[in-house]
Amino acid sequence: MTPIRHLYVHIPFCPKVCPYCSFYKEASDRNKTQLFLDAVLSELEQAQTRLGRPVAPETIFFGGGTPSALSTSQLDFLLTGLKERLDLTGLREWTLEMNPATVSLEKARLLKSLGVNRISMGVQSWDPALLEVLGRVHSAEQAERSYAILREAGFENVNLDLIFAVPTQTRQQWRETLERTISMQPQHISAYCLTYEEDTAFYARFQKGEYTQDKEWDADLFEMTMDLLGEGGYEQYEISNYARPGRECLHNLAYWLGYDYLGLGPSAFSTVGSQRWKSVSDTASYYSKILSAQSGVDFEEPLDPETRRSEAIAFALRTNRGVSAEWLLPWKSSVEEFLAEGFFAEENERVRLTRKGKLVADTLAETFV
Ligand SMILES: C[S@@+](CC[C@H](N)C(=O)[O-])C[C@H]1O[C@@H](n2cnc3c(N)ncnc32)[C@H](O)[C@@H]1O
Ligand code: SF4
Repeated sequence: MTPIRHLYVHIPFCPKVCPYCSFYKEASDRNKTQLFLDAVLSELEQAQTRLGRPVAPETIFFGGGTPSALSTSQLDFLLTGLKERLDLTGLREWTLEMNPATVSLEKARLLKSLGVNRISMGVQSWDPALLEVLGRVHSAEQAERSYAILREAGFENVNLDLIFAVPTQTRQQWRETLERTISMQPQHISAYCLTYEEDTAFYARFQKGEYTQDKEWDADLFEMTMDLLGEGGYEQYEISNYARPGRECLHNLAYWLGYDYLGLGPSAFSTVGSQRWKSVSDTASYYSKILSAQSGVDFEEPLDPETRRSEAIAFALRTNRGVSAEWLLPWKSSVEEFLAEGFFAEENERVRLTRKGKLVADTLAETFV
């Protein structure tokens, strides 16, 4: 049986909930944590039995929420437990997301010793006023200290997350955040345009008209991002992701290229063969179900090959690898139109977004869904 090569683990705790974020998370609650940790290990065992396929990951991604909101001993328990249950002989990349407020040298050293080899830290901005607008729990100085701790612990592969088009942000503030980030030389930078996600405090303010969105402004800041990060030696290998040569996130590439993955933890998606499922987005109900040997699945849907292919096209188009021209044959006339208008370029029988196309990537991708 072919093993599953990509594993995601969702840790639904945060030191403080940010007003723009819609990922499933809750404020850390010590009473729930041990039950949650036990459930993740049980869920892995149940999944391996149910799928009849071993999990032998090439990539593992601990995301959230904030995995570093777990204490050092909780991380030790969880990572050691997973290692005992997985075949890690082919492991290439093990990422863990951290919030600067929850980084310590002891924690970083433990993660390194257990095999984590990539850290993704949410910085968002180096500007104190914008960190305030974003409701972040840390200061710019704390983020800088945490980055130094990660380096001291020996992490050679670090990503920093940034957000642009934040309310009140000026061009100069974004330029300074990009320049300061480049000067710190992380291997990878994710630069996301702020989205007003439903059920967030930012969305409520947007609905009231307190916050507004201006597509031209977003595009202007996005162009500055592409220019400065390109000049800084980072290749834009996906719309929002930039890496030094050879430092692309292999786990995210696996999603974008349409490979199978198993997700553990509340709200995690899995896609295996012709099935996709999502776990319940509630920590207490997640661990109650899993620990009483019930299914923690909230919904499940069959995926026909056409759906998988059109999803793979939409994701791959966002990457610099592009899509094979043959895959796009069913949409021949749209593709010809996008080529003629300069949104697409074709080379070596692969179709890619041009710079102009990247500015309207989401609209173009809708054609193929
Ligand atoms: C799970 S968090 C990263 C780790 C940690 N929880 C933290 O925030 O420091 C994932 C990233 O998604 C991005 N993000 C979250 N909500 C967003 C939104 N509404 N618009 C754009 N980016 C967002 C942020 O850059 C954030 O760092
Ligand atoms: S951005 Fe990170 S820290 Fe903030 S609520 Fe979302 S997951 Fe938690």
